[in-house]
Order: sequence, then structure tokens, then C-alpha cells
Amino acid sequence: MTDTKPCLAAEYLNAAVRPRTQRVIPIVSPLFVPTEQLARPLDRLALFGRLAPLALEIGCGTGHFVLQRARQQPELDFLAIDIYNKGCLKTCSKLDAAGLTNVRVLRMEARELLVEALPDDSLQAIYINCPDPWPKKRHRERRLVNRDFLELALRRLHPAGELFFSSDQRDYVEQVAEVLADVPGFRNQLAAPFVESLPGYPLSKYMRRFLDQGLPVHFLHHRRDPAISLPALSGLDLRRGYRARRPGGRHE
Ligand SMILES: C[S@@+](CC[C@H](N)C(=O)[O-])C[C@H]1O[C@@H](n2cnc3c(N)ncnc32)[C@H](O)[C@@H]1O
Repeated sequence: MTDTKPCLAAEYLNAAVRPRTQRVIPIVSPLFVPTEQLARPLDRLALFGRLAPLALEIGCGTGHFVLQRARQQPELDFLAIDIYNKGCLKTCSKLDAAGLTNVRVLRMEARELLVEALPDDSLQAIYINCPDPWPKKRHRERRLVNRDFLELALRRLHPAGELFFSSDQRDYVEQVAEVLADVPGFRNQLAAPFVESLPGYPLSKYMRRFLDQGLPVHFLHHRRDPAISLPALSGLDLRRGYRARRPGGRHE
């Protein structure tokens, strides 16, 4: 991939996901792909044994969403990624128990995957459900989804690929909706900038938790417009929006 400076990838990785000293439970599931075994760019045939349209869930947590989506869409292959080891472990356990074969789970940082392994036009869908909210004003720049991230994601989408984003944090959803409306190439698929239910869209663990508490979850659904040609990217600052590590924190 040539559209971002290679040094940035190393910088955000150092900042976000390099293992320190916490206990990492090994994941032995056949669906789990250790990052060092991942071909860059991705070799879909080697990974899935077929060439099917590919979807990506960023921050899969414990796998509730991808389990349901992969069942709904057996004709698609799914990458489910999270930087949280235990989340990947639980996701794999669920998928293994369900006998699903169209998902691969990676413990990987979203921008590392997008920059280093995914070619342009490669994703049929990107799902981002309840990303870390960073609700305090002074922490908002740590949010994963910002303009630079969306510009990159747009290029990795197939020309008619879809982007789904959900959050209970209204200001995060408003912020993302505003940027999406401003980035040429995204087309809103909803009658409003965002909605409070998407029929047929599976609920993630966090969505369920908020809804059970009577709190709304807001959804965005955009599609890449195949008629818009996208200029090459330069000067993205993908370090912004990283999830800062806390020693002893739950990322491991
Ligand atoms: C609030 S949880 C939501 C989990 C799940 N999507 C849900 O809705 O139940 C956010 C998840 O995103 C993961 N995450 C945060 N930043 C990430 C990044 N830069 N790349 C990949 N995963 C990330 C976290 O480890 C965490 O599991």
C-alpha cells in the first residue's frame, strides 16, 4: 500500500497494540490467524479457501455481531478484528461452536490491517459497532473514526461497498455523520443522517446492553458511490484516534 507513510503504521502500533507484560491466553481456534501469519496484502484464497466478497468487522469484541452476520450471509467471508486478546478468544469460541467457516479472527489494530493488508476496493462491507466512545471532550481525538480514517476506509471499500457505524454516543454519531456527508464518495443510504433501528441488522453485545437499559443506539449506513473517482491519499495522520494502552488494562 502506498497511500500512507509506512513509518506511521509502526508508530501507531507502538502506541496502541504492542504487547507488554500482560498475560495473553493463546488462541488455538482454526479460525484465528496470528498477525505474523497474515500475508500483506491479504491472500483471500489462502485464508478462506475461496474467493468470496469480503466484509470486515472492526472491534468485534466478544463476537456477538459477527456470529449473526456471518450466519445471515454465508456467501460472504468475514474478517473480525479486535486488539483485545480475550475478545478474540471468545469470538473464536462462539464461531467454532456454531461451526461457521466464513469468518477469520485477527488480533489486530484496525489501521494496521487497513493500511498494510487490505488493497483498495477489497471490502464489500465495513462494520464498526459501538467503538470505544472516549466521551470526555479532551479525549475525543482518540476516537478511531475520524476524517482520515474514513478517507482510508472509503478506498478500501468495493466501489459499491457499504459502511455501517453504530454507537450510543450521539455526539460521536453526529460527528461521523457530518464527516461522511462531507467526504466525496460516501452516499447515505438512510432517509435521515442516522436512525435508531436498522431492520435485519444484528445486535452486538454493547448494543443489547444499551437497549436493555432503555438507551438509544444510533446507526449510520453509507455506501461508496461507484461514480465518484477517488484521488490518491497523502499525509493521513492515522495516529490520531488510537486507543491508548493502560498497563494492566484489558487489551491483552
Ligand atoms: C466498546 S467495545 C464494543 C465491542 C463490540 N463491537 C460491541 O458492540 O459489543 C469496542 C471494541 O473495539 C476494540 N478496539 C478499540 N480500538 C480498536 C482498534 N483501533 N482496532 C481494533 N479494535 C479496536 C476494543 O478492544 C473493544 O473490544
